[in-house]
Amino acid sequence: MSIARLIAPLTLLALQGCAGIQSALEPTGAEAERINVLTWLLIFFSAAVFLGVCAITAAALFGGDALRERISGERLVIGGGLLFPILVLSLLLSYGFYLMGAGSPVAHSDSRLRIEVEGKRWWWRVTYVDENGRRIESANEIRLPVGQPVEIELTSADVIHSFWVPKLAGKLDMIPGRTNRMTLHVTQAGISRGQCAEYCGGPHALMAFFVIAMPEREFAAWLEREAADAALPPTDAEAVNGQALFQSSGCVACHRIRGTVAQGTIGPDLTHVGSRHSIAAATLENDPAAFARWIRDSQHVKPENLMPSFEIFTASELRQLAAYMDQLR
Ligand code: CUA
Repeated sequence: MSIARLIAPLTLLALQGCAGIQSALEPTGAEAERINVLTWLLIFFSAAVFLGVCAITAAALFGGDALRERISGERLVIGGGLLFPILVLSLLLSYGFYLMGAGSPVAHSDSRLRIEVEGKRWWWRVTYVDENGRRIESANEIRLPVGQPVEIELTSADVIHSFWVPKLAGKLDMIPGRTNRMTLHVTQAGISRGQCAEYCGGPHALMAFFVIAMPEREFAAWLEREAADAALPPTDAEAVNGQALFQSSGCVACHRIRGTVAQGTIGPDLTHVGSRHSIAAATLENDPAAFARWIRDSQHVKPENLMPSFEIFTASELRQLAAYMDQLR
C-alpha cells in the first residue's frame, strides 16, 4: 500500500475528531470561543516559524556558498534565534494572560443560578441551586440557559476527576476536599458532550455527560419540572409492577425518586431519569432496553461501579423495571 493511501484515511479520521458535539474547534461557549482563537493563533504562528526554519535549513543544505555565508552570520543568529522568539513568545504569553483574565469566574452575587457538580466513580452528581437557595438534584446531565453565565462548583467524592466540556470551556480538576469554580456561558442552544479528563480508574472513559443548552425561558420551565416530585402513580400496568419491584428489591437503598419511598443517596437521583439524554453517565442511550441491560449487567457495562448486576430478575421483571424508569420524566 502506498504511503498516500495510508495517510489519506488517517487524516480523514483525525479531522473527524475536529467536528461534532465534543469539539473544541466548534465552540458554543464564551470561554471555548477564546480558547479557539488562541489555538488558531498558536497554530498559525507555529506553522510560520516551522516553514521559516525549513526554508533556512534547505538554504543551508542546497544553497550556494554566498547564501550559506549570509545565513550563518551573527545578525541572523541574534535576530532570528534570540530577538524574534523573545518578541513572539512574549506577545503570545501576554495575549494568553489577557484571555485567562477574561475567563475568570463570575462573582457569587451576580450569578443567579449555581450548579454544583460532584465527581464520583464513575458518574456526576449535579445539583442546581437557584436564586432562592432551592436545591434540585439530578445526575449525569447538565442543562444550561443560553446567554446567562452560570457558576459551576466542582468537587469530588473520591479521587481526582476533571470536568471538561470542550465546546464550552477549558477543563478544571475536581479535587477531594476542595471546591473549584468555573463559569459556563453558553452562546447557542444545542447539545454538547463533556468527559472526565483525568484518569480515575478502569471505567474512566465511561464517565461522560451531556450538556443541553436551552433558551432562558425554556430552561426556567424545565427547572420547575425538574424540581417537582416524580409523577404518581405510574399509568400503565407494567410500570406499576416495575415500581413495586423497585421498592422491594433494594433499589431504594441507593437511589432517590422524590415523592416516593426511594430515598437512597449513594447512587444517582432517578426522579426524572426518563427525560435525560443518556443513562449511566453517557454510556448508554436512554431507552427501556438500555435500562434493562444496565440493571441486569451493570458490572459488565461499567466494571467496578457500585451497582451490582441484578441477574436475579426475569426478562419480564426487567421489562417492568425498565418501563418504570422510562416513565420517570
Ligand atoms: Cu473521573 Cu476520569
